[in-house]
Amino acid sequence: MKERNPSGESPEKKAAGIAAADLVKDGMVVGLGTGSTTAYTIAELGRRVAKGLDIIAVVTSYQSEMLAIDAGITLTSLAEYPELDIAIDGADQIDAALNVIKGGGAAHTREKVVSRSAERFVIVADESKSSEQLNHYVPLEVLPYAKELVLKQVRMIGGDPVLRLASRKDGPVISDNGNFIIDASFGVIENPVVMSALLSQVAGIVEHGIFTNVDEAYIGKKDGSVEILRS
Ligand code: A5P
Repeated sequence: MKERNPSGESPEKKAAGIAAADLVKDGMVVGLGTGSTTAYTIAELGRRVAKGLDIIAVVTSYQSEMLAIDAGITLTSLAEYPELDIAIDGADQIDAALNVIKGGGAAHTREKVVSRSAERFVIVADESKSSEQLNHYVPLEVLPYAKELVLKQVRMIGGDPVLRLASRKDGPVISDNGNFIIDASFGVIENPVVMSALLSQVAGIVEHGIFTNVDEAYIGKKDGSVEILRS
């Protein structure tokens, strides 16, 4: 499984992350995603806030909360603002129809809530994330109490589930919500909408990492350009 490298510089991620900041206008309530690509968006929004951009934001994780505070972005909550103008977030894989797999950073539950609360949901990613069809493992946030039942049910629907282990802590990764993460491989996912519905029926899964509600994707290329795809 590929290691995440949140601090590594990536010109492709930077180009996509910064380009999407242009979508954010005065007066907007903005959902801030999690991960290394969205980090560029958050930093860019912070620069624009310092120059007078007037926004408030809702975060999707402790990571985006810390980045937003460092960037000087005023934060609010979904309790105060249940309807967001836009949410901008990263992806682990994106297919030709703009279905996405997320959750490499274990933040997909809050990311899904924020994306579903937004009028417009925009993905920022480097071109390595593009794939004709989805075949990346699907992160599942799971109630610790239900781990064995989830493993059994995921195998029954054709998955190969693995409990995600922490790298600088003994034992499992614990999400920002206090749950386990199980990464489930299904090979090529022929129908992401059907797989999303199947996973939503598994008792003990709090949320899975398939997103079928993307409006636009900003894909950063090696040459520094950004391709904008719309669903
Ligand atoms: C967080 O859990 C994820 O959904 C991230 O948004 C996703 O893994 C993309 O991360 P990078 O932008 O770091 O590739």
